[in-house]
Amino acid sequence: MNVLIIGSGGREHAMAWKVAQSPRLTKLYIAPGNAGTADCGENFLLDVTNHADVVRFCKEKQIDLVLIGPEIPLADGLADSLTAEQIRCFGPSQAAAQIEASKSFAKDFMARHHIPTARYATFNKVSDAIAFLERTDYPVVIKASGLAAGKGVILPETLNEAMSTLESILIDKTFGEAGSEVIIEERLSGQEVSLMAFTDGKTIVPMLPAQDHKRLLDGDKGPNTGGMGAYAPAPIFTADLMNEAMESVLKPAVNWLRLEGTPFIGVLYAGLMLTQNGIYALEFNCRFGDPETQVVLPLLETDLLDIADACVDGKLEDVDIRWKDGAAVCVVLASSGYPEKVVSGKDVRFEQLPVNTVCFHAGTKINNGQVVTAGGRVFGVTAWAESLAESIKFAYDGLDKIHFEGMQYRKDIAKRGLVNGLYHGLADENGLKLEE
Ligand code: AMP
Ligand code: GLY
Repeated sequence: MNVLIIGSGGREHAMAWKVAQSPRLTKLYIAPGNAGTADCGENFLLDVTNHADVVRFCKEKQIDLVLIGPEIPLADGLADSLTAEQIRCFGPSQAAAQIEASKSFAKDFMARHHIPTARYATFNKVSDAIAFLERTDYPVVIKASGLAAGKGVILPETLNEAMSTLESILIDKTFGEAGSEVIIEERLSGQEVSLMAFTDGKTIVPMLPAQDHKRLLDGDKGPNTGGMGAYAPAPIFTADLMNEAMESVLKPAVNWLRLEGTPFIGVLYAGLMLTQNGIYALEFNCRFGDPETQVVLPLLETDLLDIADACVDGKLEDVDIRWKDGAAVCVVLASSGYPEKVVSGKDVRFEQLPVNTVCFHAGTKINNGQVVTAGGRVFGVTAWAESLAESIKFAYDGLDKIHFEGMQYRKDIAKRGLVNGLYHGLADENGLKLEE
C-alpha cells in the first residue's frame, strides 16, 4: 500500500512509526511531517487547505490510503474531498467531525441522546450570558464553541473573571470566529481519562485508556499546555469503568452519529471525567489524541493499516485487535519559554536510545542535515515495559540521551498512575517507591 499521513506533530510521528512497521506498506509519505517522520517515510510539503492539490498528489503517487492526523483538515472537509475522488481516507467527514469542531453541536448531541455530560447553556450575546451567570449558583467552565487549538476552555475563579472572559471571547474575539458562540457549563471534578476508539461507523473497538498531564510543572502546577506527557493503560480505568464508558458514551455516540446520517469513520476520542456520580463526557475529538497516541500506538500489536483499511471498508468487526501487555509512558521535552514565548532553532544532539524506547518528534526540522528545535513541544520520549513503574524509569533513562539548550520537562509523569494503581491494588513492588 502507498500511504499518506497528514500532519506534523508527535501524534503523526507515532502514526508514521507504526505504519512503517506494516508488512503491507510499499511507500509512506507524510505531509508536511517533521525531522522524525523523515525516518519513517518521505516528507512532502503539501498545502492541505488546497484539497485539489492533495487529491492531485494522491492520484500521482497512487495513494491507497490517507490517514489524517489533526482536527483542522477534518473539520475543513478534507476527508469528503478525498472520498469524492475515490481516494480512501481514514478520518471522519466534515459533518461527523462536528463532534469536535463545534462544542455546541457536541453538547446538544450528547443532551439529545442522554450521554452523561455537564449541564450547559449556549450563548452568542454577552448580555444573555452574563444574565445566566448571575443566576447560576455553581462553579462554571466557559468554552469557545469552535476549534481553538486546545486553548478555548477557561475555568474562571470568580464572577468577575467569568464576565471578563465572556467579553473577551464574544466581543474582543480572542479566539476569532471559534468564539462567536460560547458554552457555559457546570464545572465537574474528578480524574480525567482519554478513551480513544477505532470505528467504522458501526463497530467500535476501544483502545487502551490513557491519562495525560496538561499542566507545565510538576504536581499539576503552572499554565496549561498541549500536554507534557501521558501513560497507558490508566490503572484507574478498571474493566467496570471501561464497560460503563462503552455503554453510556462511545456506543451511543457512534450509533447516533450513524442514525443521524453522519457515520463516523476513524478515531473517536472521548475525554471522560470520572466523577462521584459516574462517568461524564467532557468532550469528543474526531482524531487521535496527542500525546496519548504516543503511548497507545507502541502498545498496539495489530497492524494499524489493517485496522484503518477495515474501518474504511466498514469491516472492523473482522479485525482482531490486540495489545501488548504492560504499560507505556511518554515524557514531553519542551523548548524554553513554552507555552508562552517559545525559543526555537536549537541544535539537538542524540545518543543511542535504549531498547523499547522511541523518541517521537513534534516541533523539529532538519537544517543542513542537523536536527533543530522548531516549536514548543519538541519531543515525546516514549518507553514501554512490563509495568508502569519500569516504563517510567525507561522513559526518563531515554530522555537523558537527548540534549538541547533550554529543554524543560516534568519529572513526575505517570506517578499519578502509580498512586491510582496502588489504590486499585494493581501496583507492583516498584510502584511503592513513589518518593524517588
Ligand atoms: P475540553 O476541550 O472540552 O475537553 O476541555 C479541556 C479541558 O478543560 C478538559 O480536559 C478539562 O480539564 C477541562 N474541562 C472541560 N470541561 C470541564 C468541566 N465541565 N468541568 C471541569 N473541567 C472541565
Ligand atoms: N490530549 C488532548 C488532545 O489530543 O486533544
